Amino acid sequence: MALLFKSDTDRIDIWQEALAKLMPDLEVRVWPDVGNAADIEFALVWNPPVGELAKLPNLRAIFSMGAGIDHLASDPDLPEDVPVVRMVDEGLTQGMTEFVVMAVLRHHRRIHDYQTQQRQKHWAQLVTPLAPDRKVGILGLGVLGADSAEKLVYLGFDVAGWSRTQKSLPGVESYSGDEGLRAFLKRTEILVCLLPLTTGTKGILNSTNLGLLPHGASLINVARGGHMVPEDVLAALDSGQLAEATLDVFPEEPLPAQSPFWDHPRVLVIPHCASVTLPKTAAENVARGIEAVRKGEALQNVVDFERGY
Ligand code: NAP
Ligand code: GLV
Repeated sequence: MALLFKSDTDRIDIWQEALAKLMPDLEVRVWPDVGNAADIEFALVWNPPVGELAKLPNLRAIFSMGAGIDHLASDPDLPEDVPVVRMVDEGLTQGMTEFVVMAVLRHHRRIHDYQTQQRQKHWAQLVTPLAPDRKVGILGLGVLGADSAEKLVYLGFDVAGWSRTQKSLPGVESYSGDEGLRAFLKRTEILVCLLPLTTGTKGILNSTNLGLLPHGASLINVARGGHMVPEDVLAALDSGQLAEATLDVFPEEPLPAQSPFWDHPRVLVIPHCASVTLPKTAAENVARGIEAVRKGEALQNVVDFERGY
C-alpha cells in the first residue's frame, strides 16, 4: 500500500494512473485519506506536512518526487530508519538541461540587451564572443550539473564545474574544495547553480563569492532559493558586478509581490519550473524502487543525510 502526498502543482490523477499502469497490484491512497496508517509501506512525497511521515509505523521507503530533498531533511520528525530515495529521472534531467542551455545561450548572446534595445526602438549590433571564448561554471556536477555540462561542452563552451569530490568529465575542468571554489569563480563568466541545499551550500551565492566572478558576469540559479543571500545578489546586480540573473528559485515561494526581484530590470523571474517531475517517466523510477524493496534488493539513489543530499 502506498500513500501519495500531493504537491501544489501536480495533477494527482496522472500520478495515480501512471502508478496503476505500472503496478496494478499497488493500492494507492492520497493524503489526507490515510485510512489505517499501519497499512502504508511506501510514501511518495514532494513537500509533506511536518510530522506526517512519522505517523506511518510500517513505512519501508519514502520516494521524493523531486531531486532535492531539503524540504524532507528539514522535518525534525522524519523517520530515521526509513530510506529516502531522491528523484533521478531522465525526464527531469532532460528538462533541466534544456533550461540551463537556454539560459546560458540567452546570457551569452545578450538577448536581454536586445529586448531592452527593442523597447527603445534602438538598432545596434552587439558583439559577442563564440562559445569557446565563453567561460561557463556549474556549481554542482551531480546528475543534473553533469548533463548540463556535457551538453554545453557539445555546444563548444569553455565549461568548468565545482563539486565536493573531484570529477573527470570530458571537456569539463573540475574544481573542488574552498581553494577550488575561489579559482572556479574567478574564471566563470556565466555561473549556474545546481547544488543541493545543505548546511554546506546554504548562502553560497553571497557577496564574497559573487565578488570573485569577473565584473559583469551572469547568474543562473536553478537549485534552491536558500543558496542565495538575496540582498547580496541584488547588490551585485545594482553595482554591475552581476550583469543579469535568471532566477528560478527563491527563499520564499511563491515569490512575494513585494520582492524587488519581480521588478528588477536585469532579472528574469521563473516560477520554479526549470525542470518539473513528470509522472510518466518518474513513476517508472518509483515502481522500480518499490519492486527493489519488495524483493529485498538494494535501493538506488538513497539520500545520505550525513552528507545532506
Ligand atoms: P546530485 O546528483 O546529488 O548532485 C549534487 C552535486 O552537488 C554533486 O556534484 C555534489 O558533489 C555537489 N555538492 C554537494 N554538496 C557540495 C558541497 N558542499 N561542495 C561542493 N559540491 C557539493 O543532485 P542533482 O540531481 O544534480 O540535483 C541538484 C539540485 O538541483 C537538487 O538538489 C535540487 O535542489 C535542484 N533542482 C532544481 C530543480 C528546479 O526546477 N529548479 C529541479 C530539479 C532539481 P559530489 O559529486 O562530489 O557528491
Ligand atoms: C525540483 O525543484 C526538484 O528538486 O526536483
